[in-house]
Amino acid sequence: MKLPVYLYGHPVLRRQAEELPQDFPGLKDLVKDMFAAMYESEGVGLAAPQIGKSIRLVVIDADPVAEAFPECAGRKFVLVNPEIEILDGEKVSRAEGCLSLPGVSENVPRVEHIHLRWLDEDMQPHEEEISGFLARIVQHECDHLEGKVFTDHISAIRKQLIRRKLNDIVTGRVAVDYPVRFAPVAKRR
Ligand code: NI
Repeated sequence: MKLPVYLYGHPVLRRQAEELPQDFPGLKDLVKDMFAAMYESEGVGLAAPQIGKSIRLVVIDADPVAEAFPECAGRKFVLVNPEIEILDGEKVSRAEGCLSLPGVSENVPRVEHIHLRWLDEDMQPHEEEISGFLARIVQHECDHLEGKVFTDHISAIRKQLIRRKLNDIVTGRVAVDYPVRFAPVAKRR
């Protein structure tokens, strides 16, 4: 099944996602479908709210950006109920994009060192210290579980400058080359 990516303006992206129980039905199939949707749209991460499910589940395959960020080489994750602890409060700004905000890229300040705890798709616990761009990807995806998107972290001035772009996504006036679902109120072109 091909899952569409829900776009900015859809209320599911603003919800606090629910924890997954131990016996969540169909988890492995859902994970497989999420990886497929992520690869189809050439993303390096996808959170369940982005496919319309308000649950604490994230998939990541950071390997495509390994040339620029070596810490991402071969790093593939299924994060169930992830928890982030910030290890170093100093923030670094780098450009980010999001499959739910096509055509938008902004510098986002984030910490570079985190301690991550999570369950995998077999509900086995893991923990690891993660740094650099990989830590950024994890923070970006985990933000989706809190109903946040990366533009929530930019200045009011930057947000004003991209207001039209954001509005075009909300109202469905944007061309996207992967399957998407617009906000319910979107006016079609
Ligand atoms: Ni995103």
